[in-house]
Amino acid sequence: MTYWRGLLEEYKEYLPVTDATPELSLQEGNTPLIPLKSFSEEYGINVFGKFEGLNPTGSFKDRGMVLAVAKAKEEGAHTVICASTGNTSASAAAYASRLGLNTIVVIPEGKVALGKIAQAIVYGAKIVSIQGNFDDALKIVRKVAENNEGVTLVNSVNPYRIECQKTSAFEIVDALDDAPDYLFIPVGNAGNISAYWKGFKEYHEKKGSKLPKMFGYEAEGAAAITKDEVIENPETVGTAIRIGNPTSWHLATAARDESGGLIDSVTDDEILEAYSRLARQEGVFAEPGSNASIAGLSKAVSEGRIEKGSTVVAILTGNGLKDPQTAVDEAAVQPKILPNDEAVITEYIESLNTD
Ligand code: F0G
Repeated sequence: MTYWRGLLEEYKEYLPVTDATPELSLQEGNTPLIPLKSFSEEYGINVFGKFEGLNPTGSFKDRGMVLAVAKAKEEGAHTVICASTGNTSASAAAYASRLGLNTIVVIPEGKVALGKIAQAIVYGAKIVSIQGNFDDALKIVRKVAENNEGVTLVNSVNPYRIECQKTSAFEIVDALDDAPDYLFIPVGNAGNISAYWKGFKEYHEKKGSKLPKMFGYEAEGAAAITKDEVIENPETVGTAIRIGNPTSWHLATAARDESGGLIDSVTDDEILEAYSRLARQEGVFAEPGSNASIAGLSKAVSEGRIEKGSTVVAILTGNGLKDPQTAVDEAAVQPKILPNDEAVITEYIESLNTD
């Protein structure tokens, strides 16, 4: 039987996995590269969406977390800790529970999507909600991990996170038989863009694949790298990327500069338009913050930055089901409420003119 064995097994030779590393997998990775046909036609390019929202906990965080948590256990930790805008906490809690470790998550009060909180609760994390933002939370958990033996920080400052997140670049090159011309990706704490760049560079060296231009997009209200200044009070509908002082800032600008790419921002309106278009035109439901990549693509095309005929991959970092509140709040269509009367219902449906 051939089956996907998860990242630690599949990419062992590219990862710091040893005989002492515990086995750990929720079958993360191997996510689909979905051709986005409607966008491709509209823009005159070949666009694919790498749907990372189909990882086991619904976001790309599972890629890095599987290695970070396995290594924490290998090194004798009893607890993992993280700050999170939601996805990291869900992923940490899932993998830690699988290895019998405790999880503590520190999140910004009122700014974490409902589905993500639900996940952390059900996976059994201890949750601390603070009256501060992600950047404040990260400062606190860094200190706690430093001062308490057996407590491992699993934010992307943990090098194992970026190390294993690079595997998505490998999957893209393997699927397309080469790297794309451009990679579009949301930027929050800037770990993921750094991880992809590392992955593309490693495959370039080992397999001779080309290097894509890296196009990262922040939300306008949290656009620290774009504006080259720390944002004290970041704000955006894409709560996943509501971060004002990205940890991997310099790795992200290096990815941009080495690849001849761009880091820019998109407005909340552009993010929400992309969110809706991706679902309605392509049938793919990705959470708002994820759509910074799609909004960025639309912006870059309209600015004439993308050559016709190019191959483009947009990373869709999280599942739309994570954030049901935004889905309902932003919906252009609300359910029609009718009495349970066949004639009334039929008449209404037939009036819809769906031809
Ligand atoms: N997209 C989603 C869905 C995310 O959850 C995040 C980050 C990003 C993009 C940005 O990735 O930080 O590597 O640049 N979420 C973190 C969290 C901060 O706590 O879940 P990045």
